[in-house]
Amino acid sequence: MLVTWILAWAHIVSAIGWLGGGIVFGFVVAPALSKLSPASSGEFLVKVVPGVVRFFQIFAGLTVLFGALLLFNMGGLGLLNPSTFYGVDLSVGVAFALAAFVESEFLAVPIQLKAVRLVREMVASGKHEPPAELPKTLKMATVTSVLTLILLLIASVCMVGAGFY
Ligand code: HEM
Repeated sequence: MLVTWILAWAHIVSAIGWLGGGIVFGFVVAPALSKLSPASSGEFLVKVVPGVVRFFQIFAGLTVLFGALLLFNMGGLGLLNPSTFYGVDLSVGVAFALAAFVESEFLAVPIQLKAVRLVREMVASGKHEPPAELPKTLKMATVTSVLTLILLLIASVCMVGAGFY
């Protein structure tokens, strides 16, 4: 019982960090970036975004790790039983959570780091004009981050629903 409680707490706190951080960054910080001058937003990209990306990677990994440990501690894969409402709810939640993790790790993060690299290369080469592919890369970074958020919100709705059965 104590182990379940600790795992549930660790899982929920990690999920809060991942989803809460994503909401603040996606709805407050990212839109505000477009109001900054190119020099300021470039500096923000190079100095702040790599740390933010690392934060999301750590909290995403911890959410999935503690979620998996919690699942096995509570009874294993048998809990994902499609003949019960609880099993369907939890299965859909896990599926969306895994989709969010894969989408974030293999699509959103590489695109965000590509934007950082493009600005770094521009600064290193002494140029003042942003590379032609930067606006498209930033747009892709926004789209993939919003997609991660949508998948995460659906996963969290299912998880909280499962808690009521
Ligand atoms: C592979 C990934 C995941 C696994 C295996 C997993 C597994 C679980 C399990 C077994 C529970 C306990 C359900 C119950 O009360 O019977 C749970 C609860 C919960 N999960 Fe996840 N989870 C995952 C990802 C996520 C994600 C991405 C979020 C949100 C961003 C999330 C948010 C929550 C919340 C808030 C609860 C507490 C529900 C409640 O008791 O009201 N989980 N999870």
